[in-house]
Amino acid sequence: MTNEDKSMIGTDYLTQSDAVKQRFDRLKNREVILEVKGLNKIYKTAKGETTALKNINFKTHRREFVCVIGPSGCGKSTLVRILAGLESYNGGEALLDGKPITGPGRDRGMVFQGYTLFPWRTVKENVMFGLQMNNITTNEAAREADQWLDLVGLEKFANAYPHELSGGMKQRVAIARALVNQPRILLMDEPFGALDAQTRCKMQTHLLEIWRNIDITIVFITHDLDEAIFLADRILVLKAHPGEVMELIEVPVPRPRSVDQLFSPEFLATKARLEALIHPKQETDTNEIPIQQRMLRFVDVTDNVE
Ligand SMILES: Nc1ncnc2c1ncn2[C@@H]1O[C@H](COP(=O)(O)OP(=O)(O)OP(=O)(O)O)[C@@H](O)[C@H]1O
Ligand SMILES: [Mg+2]
Repeated sequence: MTNEDKSMIGTDYLTQSDAVKQRFDRLKNREVILEVKGLNKIYKTAKGETTALKNINFKTHRREFVCVIGPSGCGKSTLVRILAGLESYNGGEALLDGKPITGPGRDRGMVFQGYTLFPWRTVKENVMFGLQMNNITTNEAAREADQWLDLVGLEKFANAYPHELSGGMKQRVAIARALVNQPRILLMDEPFGALDAQTRCKMQTHLLEIWRNIDITIVFITHDLDEAIFLADRILVLKAHPGEVMELIEVPVPRPRSVDQLFSPEFLATKARLEALIHPKQETDTNEIPIQQRMLRFVDVTDNVE
């Protein structure tokens, strides 16, 4: 953030009110749920090697909400897949409750961008699926599924099929399905990326409501700066090629969050910092060809209205 930005916004992203500071102190006193230490990931393909993640370090405390942000290709999905136990890594450690992550497990729930519901199962049967896989009786699974559908506000749609739901509703079922096994951590990879802006905003508020009501730690991947600030306690900012941590930002916006805060000085100061990290201003390259000269024209109309 430049001094100019700071004087316009009126605060700095590093400045925290006493209440926010005290909240972070309490949060950091909680047990560590997830710890990533010196994590590296190299993909080897016929075309060569890609260092997707290099020396990633961070800790997440119980019931913390961490967002991971960074440009396309910086390794966000790779990180979340490693945490889910779906991807191997090349050195370093990923510990959940102090134990190395070696494969998928019930202690982690996952929600991805694509709608991953079983189309042939009803909403309730989709939520029951994880429980039945764990040998819980159908009656018990049905009772628990009802409770989770209630929590995500879909109790009236229990018998609907996924194709009868909107995108936001499908993602609410996916959240219920991920939470039904009561995981320690919820891993979310751009879960609202395919939703329209208004639904996305509602889902963010809804997710914060769910998070406030249950004992869950969340790692949420996004490339949307506003979404990260609105949701997170802390934001892990990655850079690409190789994927490395640029900064772990403590969001100075107080909780509970509301859309009224989107233009608060703390929110804008955090956004200015993220912009500076993720979209740094380029020096003008005087050798660069002006874009008008590089563009091919495919129109015959030459009256210059456009
Ligand atoms: N299965 C794979 N094999 C080889 N390279 C891969 C594989 N998956 C990812 N990569 C490479 O690793 C890097 C990180 O990819 P990743 O999908 O984790 O990025 P991302 O931050 O999630 O990007 P996006 O924002 O576009 O989703 C990229 O350079 C990508 O090309
Ligand atoms: Mg990705």
